[in-house]
Amino acid sequence: MRKEIRINRLISVKEHVEHLQIEKWLIDVGDILEFDLFEDVPYSTKKELFLSKKHSISLVMKNKIDRAERLYIQRSDLMLYERFISDSIRSVANNTHISITKKAAVIYHEASVVVDELFDNPEALENVPKSKKVVNNFISTIFSDSRAIESLMKIASYDYYTQTHSINVCVYSLSLGSFLKLEEKVLEELGTAALLHDLGKSLVDHAITNKNGRLTTAEFELMKLHPSYGYEIALKLGIEDKRILDGIRHHHEKLDGSGYPDGIRGKKITLFARIIGVCDVFDALSTKRSYKDRLGSCAALHLMKDTMQQHLDMTFVDAFIRMQQHKEPA
Ligand SMILES: [Fe+2]
Repeated sequence: MRKEIRINRLISVKEHVEHLQIEKWLIDVGDILEFDLFEDVPYSTKKELFLSKKHSISLVMKNKIDRAERLYIQRSDLMLYERFISDSIRSVANNTHISITKKAAVIYHEASVVVDELFDNPEALENVPKSKKVVNNFISTIFSDSRAIESLMKIASYDYYTQTHSINVCVYSLSLGSFLKLEEKVLEELGTAALLHDLGKSLVDHAITNKNGRLTTAEFELMKLHPSYGYEIALKLGIEDKRILDGIRHHHEKLDGSGYPDGIRGKKITLFARIIGVCDVFDALSTKRSYKDRLGSCAALHLMKDTMQQHLDMTFVDAFIRMQQHKEPA
């Protein structure tokens, strides 16, 4: 099963580790967990008990879980955790009255499994239908409940990895696109471009894409190849829609022509690339990375507005700000 691939991958990466980080967003009010939860001991690699098993999750506890930075299980409880994930997914599939926070968490989790596969095997042809399914799941969730965007954005603001970054940029682009009343068909293409925008990173040395800290000039030159690599992969996958292809290739172009790979400027940067560009920077600023703390979403957007006028299309930064304030588009 797909989720097992992801969990197995987690183990192989961290074989020596006794505790495994979990997707805490899947835990909801009323759940009774069959495994203990642990949290980080501040300024240490040690973990301490956060919640013992068999407790029914209250609203107070759910809020505490949401506020915790990371939660873990013991490696010996992995099977129980896997069963919990399966049950969560099944309960969402079978229950139309499920809370939007749970639904958002499950959809986000499923997307992360697909994106993991995508990065493992970027040129597999089934990536296109799988990506479209992820995007359509997000679109139908966003349209079905006005609180969905908020729930998805809450999940998106945590850890930063290339894979979760791709999902976050997809979530933000779709949220912004639906806020700006783009047609559903256009949203589908925009979401696909956003989900695949960094796929070219799969061809860049992992030591560079996973580096904790700033890249050297030489490393950055290699990293700068990823939009054209992504474009080539999309072509190989049979994607013909020019808006998607340009969205992937040009998401690091800047309005003043100082971006890469083609150094194009202004309106030559197409709509999808400009939206993805804004969401990309927003996610980089507002998620936590090992070498820096996250900015709050308001602070991130205002920093973009104050310092990136020459780079980003401010129409979309302003729309993002209005969306955060729950106002109508200008
Ligand atoms: Fe990128």
